[in-house]
Amino acid sequence: MEDRIVSGESLEHDDIEEQSLRPQTLTQYIGQKKVKENLRIFIEAAKMRQETLDHVLLYGPPGLGKTTLSMIISNEMGVNLRTTSGPAIERPGDLAAILTALEPGDVLFIDEIHRLNRAVEEVLYPAMEDFCLDIVIGKGPSARSVRLDLPPFTLVGATTRAGMLSAPLRDRFGVVSRLEYYTHEELTNIVERTAEVMDADIDHEAGVEIARRSRGTPRIANRLLRRVRDFAQVKGDGEITLSLTQHALELLQVDQLGLDDIDHKLILNIIEKFRGGPVGLDTIAATIGEEAHTIEDVYEPYLLQIGFLQRTPRGRIVTVHAYEHFHMEVPGS
Ligand SMILES: Nc1ncnc2c1ncn2[C@@H]1O[C@H](COP(=O)(O)OP(=O)(O)OP(=O)(O)O)[C@@H](O)[C@H]1O
Ligand SMILES: [Mg+2]
Repeated sequence: MEDRIVSGESLEHDDIEEQSLRPQTLTQYIGQKKVKENLRIFIEAAKMRQETLDHVLLYGPPGLGKTTLSMIISNEMGVNLRTTSGPAIERPGDLAAILTALEPGDVLFIDEIHRLNRAVEEVLYPAMEDFCLDIVIGKGPSARSVRLDLPPFTLVGATTRAGMLSAPLRDRFGVVSRLEYYTHEELTNIVERTAEVMDADIDHEAGVEIARRSRGTPRIANRLLRRVRDFAQVKGDGEITLSLTQHALELLQVDQLGLDDIDHKLILNIIEKFRGGPVGLDTIAATIGEEAHTIEDVYEPYLLQIGFLQRTPRGRIVTVHAYEHFHMEVPGS
């Protein structure tokens, strides 16, 4: 799959700049009011009791700020952060090595935690519950199990697919928080904050415009801002104005709602070839030459979220909102 500018996933160029853009404290972290309020209380309480914070599971679509929040949690607790990911921990021994190297109170962040394999997951259960490891020494009849104490720690797990987490793992998290898509207002604040960090000069209306096209996702907002800033530097005098923003985003083929040519192709295909549906996912996949699961996981969610597509037992249907967006007449109306 090619890089989409409107993808919530991290693209190659995001990485380096994201580090410097990340808010460091709960106060700097914009939006996600409920998640923040809860965390603030749990963190405060843990600190008062001089205990570690309960294990935290963060889930939600890519680019909404899960990694950022894990860093903030360790900052606010005043402890070290150790970062790894599900696929990076291949064997139980890898996890044991990480756990035994923790300092008391540390935060261990496991990204894509739904991708931990079964054997590794089983090491994690006693570690989370009792802060200990069960290690088997020897082989065959002489094998015996030893318990090893671990320093108390906080596990912060992140996943885009909470449904793929096993029940026993999920149950071991004391705090489970779902991150929501951001409002236009919150995204405008994020764009303005990012512009300030980047020392870029942006008009308020331009910030609003970028926010509206960012699909509820801070990562996309920051990415669009970077592209528009480039444009302002080369084609203008550096100031990011509304008209320059609109022009730049048009050239980048990101429309008023943040849809790109792939979204357009998907919707128009259903309208033109299937009279707006219902049409099955596999049929759509075959006609636009994409895998069904790519459509389901990557292309569809935002279209469902803004109500352009509907899922029915008989297949996907394009809604009136989509017809209106494309200035097309609804069949039979
Ligand atoms: N609440 C927020 N306030 C300000 N900036 C934010 C916020 N949330 C995320 N960002 C910015 O958005 C970018 C992406 O955030 P982050 O990497 O934390 O997302 P993520 O949920 O971990 O994504 P992924 O699912 O791909 O791991 C970062 O550059 C971060 O600075
Ligand atoms: Mg992340």
